[in-house]
Amino acid sequence: MGSLNTSALATAKRYVSDALTNQYIDNYKAMGLKGDGMGSRDSSWATALLSSIQREAGVYGAAGEIGVHHGYFWMSVALTARVGEKLFALDLFERNQDKNVDASGGGNMGIFTHNAQTLGFPVQDIVVVEGMSSSITPGQLCSKIGYGFRFLSIDGGHTKEILLNDMKFAECCLVDGGIAALDDYSNAFWPGVHEGIVSYFDRHGANSRLAPFLLHANKLYVTTRSHHKRYLDAVTSQAFWRNACRSTVAGPGVCIEAPGVNGGNLWKFQLGGHALAVAEFREFDQAQAVAMWKDVIAKC
Ligand SMILES: C[S@@+](CC[C@H](N)C(=O)[O-])C[C@H]1O[C@@H](n2cnc3c(N)ncnc32)[C@H](O)[C@@H]1O
Repeated sequence: MGSLNTSALATAKRYVSDALTNQYIDNYKAMGLKGDGMGSRDSSWATALLSSIQREAGVYGAAGEIGVHHGYFWMSVALTARVGEKLFALDLFERNQDKNVDASGGGNMGIFTHNAQTLGFPVQDIVVVEGMSSSITPGQLCSKIGYGFRFLSIDGGHTKEILLNDMKFAECCLVDGGIAALDDYSNAFWPGVHEGIVSYFDRHGANSRLAPFLLHANKLYVTTRSHHKRYLDAVTSQAFWRNACRSTVAGPGVCIEAPGVNGGNLWKFQLGGHALAVAEFREFDQAQAVAMWKDVIAKC
């Protein structure tokens, strides 16, 4: 495995300029992107927020996604990356859709490549893996990339078995302080995702390398145990959640709850023995969210 030149990365630019990034945030349709995306805008700004927290902590590594479809959430992840942090994309793409057992999405290489190129990512530098996520081992993936992941989105197949397989990439390939975003944790229409994640924590318990720290907008964010407290404290102390919170099932202004935060109960906000901040089923003021996005992306 190679190593990351973190001092060079600390001063490196992001792949995409602030001007193009803001254009994407303000109106990506006008940029001529093709296809569609399945993630929400909330997940995109949360990714930038979390990446800026990683940067503050000096955490660097590859960024990418398992299950890119047409690349919309992939772009939100890749926008946070600095030149020198490898970009990664894995999907069945159109040639392997016969292996899409749960018929979730339909990756397309041409559309993905067009979208990545339109935003200005150097497509020749993206590590692309075409096929089932189970066709490659975590060891093979790590050596393909050369080092570990800073941010890995997991949004490929949605069965329990696939989740257990894909979480191995997070367990083995995240750098210390890396973050994996597990999509559809809260989606009742994909019970296999929930089952897979819960089985993982059941098997590994509080000794797992991975520790979940935030549930927001249908994604469960996990990091390595080494950084769990740091990230939990960082997200729960963000005034943003309070300020941009429009409506919530838990009462006005209560957009994030965790043990000791907003009266959060120690036993309620736990998953796999890890304290978890919950900001799920909240409505955020989009104008404030976009303003926050522009502010934090510049710090990624
Ligand atoms: C829900 S879509 C992803 C949506 C995308 N992340 C976004 O936010 O726009 C799921 C994707 O995973 C791919 N996929 C499904 N099963 C897979 C598997 N076992 N291995 C790799 N990719 C898979 C599909 O082709 C599809 O593009």
